[in-house]
Amino acid sequence: MTPSQVLASYGPAAGLAPVVTPFAGGEKDRPLAERLAAHPLIMAPMAGVSDGAYRLMARAGGADLAYSEMVSVAGLHYGERSWELVDPVDGEPDVAVQLFGSRPELFREGAERVVARLGARLALIDVNMACPVPKVTRKGEGSALMEDPGLAAAIVRACREGAPGVDVTVKIRRGRHMGREVAPEFARAMEDAGAAAVAVHGRFATQMYRGEADWGVLDRVADAVGIPVIASGDVTDHAAALRALDQTGATAVMVARGTYGNPWVFSGHEATASERVAAFACHVRLLEATGAHLKRARSLAGWYFKGMPDAARWRNAAMSCVEADEFLAVADEVRAHVC
Ligand SMILES: Cc1cc2nc3c(=O)[nH]c(=O)nc-3n(C[C@H](O)[C@H](O)[C@H](O)COP(=O)(O)O)c2cc1C
Repeated sequence: MTPSQVLASYGPAAGLAPVVTPFAGGEKDRPLAERLAAHPLIMAPMAGVSDGAYRLMARAGGADLAYSEMVSVAGLHYGERSWELVDPVDGEPDVAVQLFGSRPELFREGAERVVARLGARLALIDVNMACPVPKVTRKGEGSALMEDPGLAAAIVRACREGAPGVDVTVKIRRGRHMGREVAPEFARAMEDAGAAAVAVHGRFATQMYRGEADWGVLDRVADAVGIPVIASGDVTDHAAALRALDQTGATAVMVARGTYGNPWVFSGHEATASERVAAFACHVRLLEATGAHLKRARSLAGWYFKGMPDAARWRNAAMSCVEADEFLAVADEVRAHVC
């Protein structure tokens, strides 16, 4: 089965809707600002998580747009494998591709190749300036770019040169080091370089994921720029997403960890236990249909079955599964006991 056939067959029992592009019928050419204002709920980039199957589940759960995980521009330059992370899957209307690196010339080339490969299914190119992981920042990539606005601006310009007519956005944090907030002036510099929107995760990079995200920075950035601000951080459920849109200067909002086992976070649908089990089964079939590693379903089981009676038992059962049929057998067992 193709991914869209999987969704058509298994989505309804899981309370998932058919994936439609909200940008059809000429809307595709809308400026990004209008598009984000009209369709503000976004699946955030997550390395090791947001593959095609995950993005498709998010879209079926109501996400207006979904990001690829961060993809190295050096990886795109030197190898073929990274394209797996970038290519939209069948049934996915479009995808926001996030790139990371530190060399403008590789961004120019990467952007050019992403456009050639994705064409109209490329929603935007985002540059990761937020990743706090030392393996990345040591090379001057990710959040390290927030300490070098000149280089960061050159990267935005390089992407625009490589992908004329495509919106180039950036994803940043409050700043790199705890207590040194540079997001407002940094975002303005990115706007001057041609960025079409800025996503802001309200933590400093050195905080990693500790502490609370500060939504106040969304207003400070929104006051500093004319481009749309996309909120990220601690948007744990649908109500929080609506609050972020209502109470801050953000035009759109991203959900990352709040999507774990909850693709309905975007629509606000309160899934029943039976729908959650059906969603897990649908997700497993999507992994299969997209050729992804089935091992990914192990963490998915923990997320979809969380809070159910005997959740630890189902999670443990999934830990020893390898093939799709084995995961689906666990789903059957959960259904028999819980639903
Ligand atoms: C497992 C994981 C992987 C992530 N990978 C990326 C990534 O590839 N690119 C990126 O910009 N942010 C990445 N993030 C950060 C998220 O996009 C988001 O900004 C952050 O988790 C805060 O949002 P949340 O509170 O909704 O999780 C990742 C987060 C997690 C938990």
